[in-house]
Amino acid sequence: MACYMFDALTIRYDRIVRKEDVDKVNPPKFDKSNDMAELTHLNEASVVHNLATRYMADMIYTYSGLFLVAVNPYCSLPIYNREYISMYKNKSRDVASPHIYAITDQAFRNMLEMHENQSILVTGESGAGKTENTKKVIQYLAAVTTPTHATGELGRIEQQILQANPILEAFGNSQTVRNNNSSRFGKFIKIGFSRSGQISGAYINWYLLEKSRVVTQSPLERNYHIFYQLLCGAPASLREKFLLDGKVGDYAYLKNGQRTIPGVSDADEFNNLTSAFTIMGFSEQEQTDLLRVIAIILHIGNLEVGAERSSWQAKLLQYVQVEKLCHAMGVPVDAFTKALLRPRVKAGRDWVDQSRTQAQVQFSLHALAKTLYERGFAYLVNRINDVLERDSASTMFIGVLDIAGFEIFETNSFEQLCINYTNEKLQQFFNHHMFVLEQDEYARENIDWQFIDFGHDLQPTIDLIEKSNPIGIFSCLDEDCVMPRATDKSFTEKLHSLWDKKSDKYKPSLLKLGFRLKHYAAEVDYSTEGWLEKNTDPLNENITQLLSLSDQPHIAQLFADDAEGTLTARKKKGLFRTVAQRHKEQLTSLMTQLNSTHPHFVRCILPNHEKRPRKMDNVLVLDQLRCNGVLEGIRIARTGFPNRLSFAEFRQRYEILVTHGGGARGTPLARATATGYVDGQRACSLILDALNLDKSAYRVGITKVFFRAGVLAELEERREKLVRTVITLIQSRARGYLQRRYANKRLHRAEAVQVIARNIKASQTDNPWWKLYVKMQPLLIAQRETVQSMARDGEYRKVVVQLADAETEARKVSERARKLEAEMKKVQETLESERALAIDQQEILRRTQTREADLEEQLAVTLEDLDMLEAQCEELLDAKRKADKEVEMWRGELENGARIMGRLEGEKSTMDKRIEALEADLRTKEDKEGKIHGEMEQL
Ligand SMILES: Nc1ncnc2c1ncn2[C@@H]1O[C@H](COP(=O)(O)OP(=O)(O)OP(=O)(O)O)[C@@H](O)[C@H]1O
Ligand SMILES: [Mg+2]
Repeated sequence: MACYMFDALTIRYDRIVRKEDVDKVNPPKFDKSNDMAELTHLNEASVVHNLATRYMADMIYTYSGLFLVAVNPYCSLPIYNREYISMYKNKSRDVASPHIYAITDQAFRNMLEMHENQSILVTGESGAGKTENTKKVIQYLAAVTTPTHATGELGRIEQQILQANPILEAFGNSQTVRNNNSSRFGKFIKIGFSRSGQISGAYINWYLLEKSRVVTQSPLERNYHIFYQLLCGAPASLREKFLLDGKVGDYAYLKNGQRTIPGVSDADEFNNLTSAFTIMGFSEQEQTDLLRVIAIILHIGNLEVGAERSSWQAKLLQYVQVEKLCHAMGVPVDAFTKALLRPRVKAGRDWVDQSRTQAQVQFSLHALAKTLYERGFAYLVNRINDVLERDSASTMFIGVLDIAGFEIFETNSFEQLCINYTNEKLQQFFNHHMFVLEQDEYARENIDWQFIDFGHDLQPTIDLIEKSNPIGIFSCLDEDCVMPRATDKSFTEKLHSLWDKKSDKYKPSLLKLGFRLKHYAAEVDYSTEGWLEKNTDPLNENITQLLSLSDQPHIAQLFADDAEGTLTARKKKGLFRTVAQRHKEQLTSLMTQLNSTHPHFVRCILPNHEKRPRKMDNVLVLDQLRCNGVLEGIRIARTGFPNRLSFAEFRQRYEILVTHGGGARGTPLARATATGYVDGQRACSLILDALNLDKSAYRVGITKVFFRAGVLAELEERREKLVRTVITLIQSRARGYLQRRYANKRLHRAEAVQVIARNIKASQTDNPWWKLYVKMQPLLIAQRETVQSMARDGEYRKVVVQLADAETEARKVSERARKLEAEMKKVQETLESERALAIDQQEILRRTQTREADLEEQLAVTLEDLDMLEAQCEELLDAKRKADKEVEMWRGELENGARIMGRLEGEKSTMDKRIEALEADLRTKEDKEGKIHGEMEQL
C-alpha cells in the first residue's frame, strides 16, 4: 500500500499492481491523439486515457485504426452545424479532426471514385449513441448531395429520408432503463445514389423488433412511444373514432410502467409525427389506419377475462369492452367471442369446438396484440420504402447499419441469442475484412510481414448456432418445434446430448434449464425457458381468419395471409417460417449485402450509466473496447501497412513530386526511362527513393505499393502544395494571355471606329440616299428579326411539346423498369431464401429419413425377436398345458394315495390298538405265566 501527502490532500492507493501489468505512459506530444493507432506506447490504459482526456475536452470522436470510436456526450455539442458540414466536405480523413462526417465523406467519395457500394456499421451497447450517429450520417449525406446545400434547403427526397426517422422512432423506440429513446429493433438503411452523386432513393430493412414490450414492460420502462403519443396528442375526434376515452393509466398495457419521459412532451411528439407523415405523403386515411392498430392493441389489453364457476371455461367479463374492441377491429362481436373462447379446431378428421381456459384466452390475446404490432410495423416500413424507393436511377448505395451490440444480461433468452449471434457474424465480418483480407493481400504481394494470429476463430460458435449439419441450436429448435410432445426441457437435453463435450464452445448451463455459449467477447448463459413457443409464435387461427374478413381494409390486409385455407396452404408450401429461420435468413441476406460493400466501422461507447456528460467510467469503457474489437484493431493497424496504391495509380499521382521543377532530367527515374522501358515496380521504387521516405514506412509489392498509416497523408500534402503552385502558375499565364488579347481587340476596335467615322463624315454626310438608307435600316432588320423569331418560337413550342411527351414516356418506361426490377429482386430474394430454407429442410428431412431407416431396422429386428418369442411362448404354453394335465393326473393319484393312506392309517391305528391289546394280553399272560412259574418253583 502506498500513501502520498500533498499539502492537505492525502491520497491512499489500496490496489497492488503487479510489475508486469504496468506500462509506459506516452509523452505529452501524444496527448489527445486523433488516431489511437499512432500512440507510441499502445496499451489498454493509454487508449482509455486518450479517450477520457479527449472526452473531457468535448472531443467525442477518435480514430482507432479502421474504427471511428464515438463516445456519447450526453449533451448537445455545436459540431453538427452547416459550418462543420462544409469543413468535412471533400476532405480526406486526416485533414480535419475525427468526426462521423469524415467517415461519411470518405464513404461518399469512395463510392463516387471507385464505383463501389459502401456500408457504415454502427454498433455499441444500448444508449451508446448508435441511432444519433446514424442520423448524423444521413443528415450529412442529405446536405452534401443537395445542390441547394448552401442555402440549407433540402430536396424532397432528402427531406423524406430524414423524416422517416421520427416515424420509425415513434413506432420502434421506447424508454428503457438505459436509454430514454431506445431503438427496440435493428435497421439497415440503404441510401441510393445516381451516377452523378445525387440521392435518388432509400430502402430500409429492419430486424428483431422486441414485440414482448407491447404487452409487458418493467416498472421503470415504457411501452412504444406511439401509444402515449396517440393518447396525449391525437385530436379528440380521432380518439373518439377509436373509442379511446381513457388516459395512459386506464390501459392495462401501459399502466404498470412509466407514463412520461422527463423533458419529453408526447403531445408535441405526436404533432411532429403528423408532420412527418405529411412530408412522407401519407394520406389521412393511411395515418388513421396505422393508428387504428395501436388503438386495437390498447382495447385488447383492457379485455377482462374470467372463468365459469362450474367449469374451467373462460368468459369475457365486460361486454362493453368486447364491443369497443370489435368495433375498432371491424369484426362481429359474436364471431370474435366464439373464436376467442370456443374456437373450432381439428381433432383427427373432425372439426370440434374446443373450450378454452382463462389462461389460454389471456395467452391468445397477448399473442394477437404482439402480432398486430409487428405486422403493423412491417406494413409501416414497407410503406416508407414505397415512398423512398422511387427512382430507378440508383446505381450505387451507402448502407448504414444501426443494430444492438453484443451484451450480457442477468437472464439471457432467445432474443439475446439472436442479437449476440448477429454480433458474432458482424465481428467475423470485421475480422475477415481486417485480418484475413490483409494477410491474403500481403501474401499475394509477396510482402515481408510477420503475420499476427489474433486467435478469434469465430466460426465454431457460429456453426454451433446456425448449422443444420451437424445439427446446430436453431435447427434443433426448429426440429423440436414440429415434434409432438417436445418441451423446452427435452429440447435442452437434446442440445446437451448433441454438443456437450463435443464442442469447447458449449457447456450445459449452471442454471436450471439452459446452456452456456462461448462468444468472441465472453461466455454467456442462456435460459431456454419458453423457446419452443417463442420460436413458433402460435396464434389463434380462428381469430386471424376472422380478422382477414374485417370491415377495416387495413386490418384485413394485415391478416390477408391468414384467410381460410391460405394458412394451411402456406404451411404446406413451406412459406411458414419460425422466428429462428426468419432471423437466419435476414442475417444471411444482410451479410451478403455487406460483403458486397466497402465497410466502415463506427463503435459507439457508453461513458457512464448515469447519462451524465463529461463523466467517464474507465472500467466500463475498457470493457466495451475489448468486446467490440477496438483493441485488436489498433494493434493490427499499427503493425501492418493499411494504405496501398497500384503502381499505375501511385505513378500517376506522385511522380510529379520528383519530376516537377526541371529536376526531371536529373532524377534516376528520368535517366532510366530515357534508356528504355521501365516496369512499374522499378519505377515506383525509384520514385520512393527520390522521395526520401523512411524505408520502414513503405513496402513495394508485386502490383502495389504499401504504406504505413499516415505516410500517404504526408505525400498528399506535398502533392497538394505542388499542384497548387502549378495551377496558380497556369492560371496566371492564362489570365495574362486573355487580358492581352482583350486589350488588343479593344485597341483595334477603337481604331476602326475612328477610321469609319472619319470616312463617313468625309464622303457621305450630304448624300440623300444614304440618309434614307440609314432611316430605313432599323425597320428592315426589325421586320426580318420578327418573322424569324416567330418561326423560331413556333418550332421551339413544338420541340417543347415533343420533349415533354418524350420525358413523360421515358418516366413511364423507367418507372415500369424500376417496378419490374424491384419485383425481380423480390422474387430473387424469395427464391434465395427458399433455396436456403430448402437446404435446411433437406438436412432435417435427411436426418429424419436416416432416423426412420434406423428405426425401421430396429423394428424389423424387434419383429423377428417377437416372432421367436411368440414361437417360444407357444411351445411353453404347450409344455404348460401338458404339465397341467400331468399335474391334474398326479393330483388324482395323490388324492387316491391320500385316501388309501387315510384308510391304511385307520387300519394301522386299529392294528396298533389290537397290537397294544395283544401286548397287554401277552404281558398279563406273561405275568400270569411268571406267577405260575414262581408258584411252580416254590412248589
Ligand atoms: N452525438 C450525440 N450528441 C448528443 N447527444 C447524444 C449523442 N449521442 C447520443 N446522445 C444522447 O444519448 C441518447 C442515447 O443515444 P441513442 O438513442 O443514439 O443510443 P443507441 O445506441 O441507439 O441505444 P439503443 O440501442 O438503446 O437504441 C440520445 O437520446 C441522446 O440524448
Ligand atoms: Mg438506437
